[in-house]
Amino acid sequence: MSAEILDGKAIAAEWRQTLAADVALLQRDHQLTPGLGVVLVGDNPASRSYVTAKEKACAELGMYSREETLPATAGLDEILSVVDAMNRDPRIHGILVQLPLPDSSMEQVILEAIMPEKDVDGFHPVNVGRMMLGLPAFLPCTPHGILHMLKRSGVKTAGAHAVIVGRSNIVGRPLANLLSMKSALGNATVTLCHTGTTDVGTFTRQADLVIAAAGRPGTITADMIRDGAVVIDVGTNRIADPSRKSGFRLVGDVDFDAVREKASKITPVPGGVGPMTITMLLYNTLLSARRHHGLGDPVFRS
Ligand code: GUN
Repeated sequence: MSAEILDGKAIAAEWRQTLAADVALLQRDHQLTPGLGVVLVGDNPASRSYVTAKEKACAELGMYSREETLPATAGLDEILSVVDAMNRDPRIHGILVQLPLPDSSMEQVILEAIMPEKDVDGFHPVNVGRMMLGLPAFLPCTPHGILHMLKRSGVKTAGAHAVIVGRSNIVGRPLANLLSMKSALGNATVTLCHTGTTDVGTFTRQADLVIAAAGRPGTITADMIRDGAVVIDVGTNRIADPSRKSGFRLVGDVDFDAVREKASKITPVPGGVGPMTITMLLYNTLLSARRHHGLGDPVFRS
């Protein structure tokens, strides 16, 4: 069997059309343009390219975005003052500090300085806590994007055994929470594997749904996958490729060619989860703009 490819790019494009229509209505009826503030510290090429993709996506939807770039040597106070200015700027409804920061020890303080009402990444402890309790919150973009991609692709999570590999605060842990929640996009039985797991394959072989979010190429090999499982690859690893103009290519965490022959559905890298992540960031920014102006949340199909 060769798996069906889950085309994240196409699903994201559908969503963005709906978002663009809502942005146009907000402008027409309320003279309101949703705005995203982006903070980039240092010159990590991968971070630079993610930030550029997010800003381009904003522009395509008719949203405003503003980038503040700081040198890798920027101190905590300097970064906090940029975040503070964005907290107070009425044109900015969502704030994103691109991670990782050159000095990762600053990350938590900076994330907590973002107003929870503008925390469109869903990383502030207020939003994390609200999400865990099933209360309205900004949901983190990659897990939320995966849930919508599964739904749109006809993958039932209710009653499924989902095995997540990777326990990051950005993907693995919030996804475990959302998938296990009693909700239309959840209701799965969840196993969370990590670097301390003895024999990850023992768990993934029992899974209906495997989500690879370890950040390491080759994490999931064909022998770790049950026939007919659904495989979601969150990895975006740059590996050297002298045949490319850029000098690199992106690969996921999954051995795509071999796993494809066993899975029923699989996401590619690139073009799988990545476009959905950006779409959910746009969605959260739109949601935030609406909430700041006392408007109800938009209802979108997925
Ligand atoms: N770095 C990797 N993924 C993300 C994300 O979703 N948001 C931010 N801010 N940084 C990231």
